[in-house]
Amino acid sequence: MKVWAFALLLALGALTLPGAGAPVDPLIARGKYLVAFGSCNDCHTPGWRESDGTIPAVRWMTGSRLGYRGPWGTSYPKNVRREFASIRESDWLFMVRTRGGHWPMVWHDLRNLKIDDQRAIYRFVRSLGPRGVPAPADLPPSREPSTQYIWIVPH
Ligand code: HEC
Repeated sequence: MKVWAFALLLALGALTLPGAGAPVDPLIARGKYLVAFGSCNDCHTPGWRESDGTIPAVRWMTGSRLGYRGPWGTSYPKNVRREFASIRESDWLFMVRTRGGHWPMVWHDLRNLKIDDQRAIYRFVRSLGPRGVPAPADLPPSREPSTQYIWIVPH
């Protein structure tokens, strides 16, 4: 084979490799869309609102030190990047099916998603890899938070 023909074949091969073109798993692209629209970044990505939603995906879902305080105590939006690196997809699906729990996490809304959409969220966040530090531990109602918090009780 002529050298130029070989080089052309190599170039064509590179174009079709993962990373050069579309994502390998189409669910990953769908997951990104769902996370963006599902308001997940509003709580789980520090500075999201302040940035008017311009933080790039590499920095999404790393958890927050801004607590949500109410009669249940104070809960923190968890670092989902670390969480998803350590649990399986089936664990996440189980969590969505069974977790109610603290405000303000949107478990009750996630339950309405089709199972493939629930999977897509996991695949996308997991594809980003772990990043950042764990969010602070949740506190019981009697404990005063040492971080900033949003007080969510009806007035
Ligand atoms: C209004 C704020 C808010 C929004 C919006 C929100 N979360 Fe959360 N999330 C929290 C809080 C607070 C917790 C911790 C309490 C809990 O686990 O229920 C949490 C917990 C979680 C956990 C559990 C992590 C663990 O280690 O147990 C996952 C996973 C998660 N959120 C993913 C998401 C996804 C995906 C979305 C978008 C569909 C989302 N969250 C939207 C506030 C929010």
